[in-house]
Amino acid sequence: ITLSQDVQGQNETLSVTLKKVEDFLQPFRLSMEKLREVSARLRKDFIRGLSKRRHSRPPVKMLPTFVRSTPDGTERGDFLALDLGGTNLRVFHVRVEDQENVRIVNRKTDPIPTEKKKGTGNQLFDFIAASLADFLKSSSLTDQTLPLGFTFSFPCDQKDIDKCILVRWTKGFDCSGVEGEDVVKLLWEAIKRNKPHPLPALSSNISSIDMVNDTVGTMMSCAFQDQSCEIGMIVGTGTNACYMEEMKNVKRMEGEDGRMCINTEWGGFGDNGSLRDIQTEFDLELDRGSPNQGENQFEKMISGMYLGEVVRLVLVKLAQEKLLFGGELSEDLLTQDKFKTKYISQIEEDTTGLEQAWEILLKLGLPASPEDCEIVRMVCSTISTRSAHLCAAALATIVNRIRTNRGLDHLRTTVGVDGTVYKKHPKFSQRLRDAVRILAPKCEISFLDSEDDSGKGAAMVTAVVPRQPKGSWL
Ligand code: GLC
Repeated sequence: ITLSQDVQGQNETLSVTLKKVEDFLQPFRLSMEKLREVSARLRKDFIRGLSKRRHSRPPVKMLPTFVRSTPDGTERGDFLALDLGGTNLRVFHVRVEDQENVRIVNRKTDPIPTEKKKGTGNQLFDFIAASLADFLKSSSLTDQTLPLGFTFSFPCDQKDIDKCILVRWTKGFDCSGVEGEDVVKLLWEAIKRNKPHPLPALSSNISSIDMVNDTVGTMMSCAFQDQSCEIGMIVGTGTNACYMEEMKNVKRMEGEDGRMCINTEWGGFGDNGSLRDIQTEFDLELDRGSPNQGENQFEKMISGMYLGEVVRLVLVKLAQEKLLFGGELSEDLLTQDKFKTKYISQIEEDTTGLEQAWEILLKLGLPASPEDCEIVRMVCSTISTRSAHLCAAALATIVNRIRTNRGLDHLRTTVGVDGTVYKKHPKFSQRLRDAVRILAPKCEISFLDSEDDSGKGAAMVTAVVPRQPKGSWL
């Protein structure tokens, strides 16, 4: 055979392989029609979540946050902020001087050790109190008394801005004795237990503790700069969004006037099986291997804690089907969570992506051919696109709802956004915007990236809350 026949033969094998991979990935590709259906299902779950629900446990919780207005730009002062996110504990001293100058005077980041994520609640809260005490000391704030905003990015049933019952842990946390308890009380107790010498009692440095979900913090700090911001969205370790809902629709609370920010906890969408038609065998396998099996199904198709793992499961299957790596597997590829979500971002980079794919695969013990690299890139892009499109469907549900709530033909609004998947993936935000434009054609959405916003946002909530009328539970 001639060289050109040989090349042609290789290309044919390649295209047969690619065709098979394409077929394999088909269930991850959701049509706009399907996304519209998903958005309509979420809309129904929003209404269910907002209802009085004495007896049911809705999958989308729609939690009142007791934040009744966004900032008006006149807020001023010094604040402390704590942020317990997925990976780090962060402490901030925030100074709001004017609308252009919201300064982080000082900050500290402590990685949360895995044993603290899964130990007892007291150990976790003692760790938080000790970190706060260190911060006050190193920032020379021990002679002051400041309000504290606590960004706690887990689903909480808030009874008030400073009474906040953890519904359940998510994102790999599993500390005993916290679910069903008031997080503010647990933090106060830890603060009172903490008596580091020579600090004066830590409790005298804190005047109040206001609880903030990270979505709410993001919305609030973006709203301080742009008053049309009334939605906060996170696509990071987990995914979630909040928005300003009309009080009259929040059936679980007294009062008809004005608005309240609702933490949707959209990560739980699908927990009653409503997304079964779009879940692939890989989603089900991932769920079976996760610590919170059966929970947060929507989040598991979207967020950073899971995307890499979905890719890994697909790669394993493709190798077993002999469509990748000449049918070879490596120990790393067979190990849970070894394929990091950040690899997806690296592999999808336009110019360097294929080279990075080769390096990453080699690190995982897989000497890859150029075709293997192409296929791995195809898998990454299919799975991250599904994530962006599902997020778009959910965001479309929110903007369409705000538009109809207000009886508007056309809505212009701003979404404050944060999270590593949204910020670090090279194509995620564009794919999300393109899809949401199609899914919510009557809404014109601006996206505002947040900066350090968990700190600034918590400060903003603390600044805004004292002016608000109190709401109460029915
Ligand atoms: C998880 C949490 C939610 C948080 C989101 C983003 O879904 O349950 O409260 O907002 O992650 O961090």
